[in-house]
Amino acid sequence: MIMADNHVRLVEVGARDGLQNEKRTLHPQIRVQLLEMLADTGLRTLEAGAFVSPRWVPQMAGSDDVLKALSVRPGVTWTALVPNVKGLEAAMAAGCREVAVFAAASEAFSQKNINCSIAQSLARYQDVMVLARDAGVRVRGYVSCVMGCPFTGYVKPEAVAAVSASLFAMGCHEISLGDTLGSGTPAATKSLIDACRQVVPVSALAGHFHDTYGMAIANIHAALEADVRIFDSSVAGLGGCPYSPGATGNVATEDVIYLLNGLGMTHGVDLDALIDVGEFINAQLGRETASRVSRALLAKRGRLQPS
Ligand code: HMG
Ligand code: MG
Repeated sequence: MIMADNHVRLVEVGARDGLQNEKRTLHPQIRVQLLEMLADTGLRTLEAGAFVSPRWVPQMAGSDDVLKALSVRPGVTWTALVPNVKGLEAAMAAGCREVAVFAAASEAFSQKNINCSIAQSLARYQDVMVLARDAGVRVRGYVSCVMGCPFTGYVKPEAVAAVSASLFAMGCHEISLGDTLGSGTPAATKSLIDACRQVVPVSALAGHFHDTYGMAIANIHAALEADVRIFDSSVAGLGGCPYSPGATGNVATEDVIYLLNGLGMTHGVDLDALIDVGEFINAQLGRETASRVSRALLAKRGRLQPS
């Protein structure tokens, strides 16, 4: 049963996790338009880009132009991924006041994604933390492959907890647990949270569920029952990770809002406005929404034929 603290904070990752894996690369101006529209719906924490190598992820090139063009809004935080000090310096030059580093609980994935071992990545992130702390920039930490690796399969919750503990100890204010492959189940989610809350306060844990196997909403429900109150999601269920073969996008933000509404939990987001943003970005990308809730509500309004 879900008890206490009724408010959920959503981290909108559509403009980063979403767009990084779409075939069509969008011009920074369109990405800015998307982000401003998302903030208009009430979302307060939004990943706006990634300061990674444009050779590795061409879709995120121009993240500096995106960050520089975004409006300053009270209560809104625009964040970006950084894989090293070079990325942090570029993010800060573009005006970022919060960034995210990304480690993994699987050695194979760490090598494929950031070309180094888990230990090497943590050493790099120590350097990122020192510079960020001096500059007053907040750092979020991601752990990928928390319920399975696309290359090596099963990942122990204890392995996830160990990487989470390292990131938290070095100063990350929040640890986002990434089911990169989207293969997790509610039972595995519970075991994962049980292991991680031993080393990081549950109030600092976030769930980041890709929806490849259609389990993301069930996993969020399991995480809510385990007291997690921060979730990452992506408008229209955009994207995935270019270095996670076979994985689809994040859970759709629209679907999470519908779940939270049904549970009587607060989130501050206007679902109808969000559905309109989903239509905008899908038109830009030439794709259909992955949000079941959007499909249902658009069909009800006569704006979409149910398939
Ligand atoms: P590398 O090749 O080992 O790096 O890549 P390097 O230090 O040897 O440098 C090689 C070149 O990259 C050099 O340029 C550097 O300047 C440049 P050159 O001299 O050859 O022209 N470089 C950079 N350029 C721009 N920004 C930087 C940067 N750093 C070096 N920050 C590196 C290592 C980490 C750079 C590379 O592997 C990389 O960019 N990887 C990013 C992969 C990525 O973005 N993956 C998707 C995000 S993670 C994700 O989606 C999971 C998540 O959603 C959670 C979940 O779902 O699990 C977060
Ligand atoms: Mg992801």
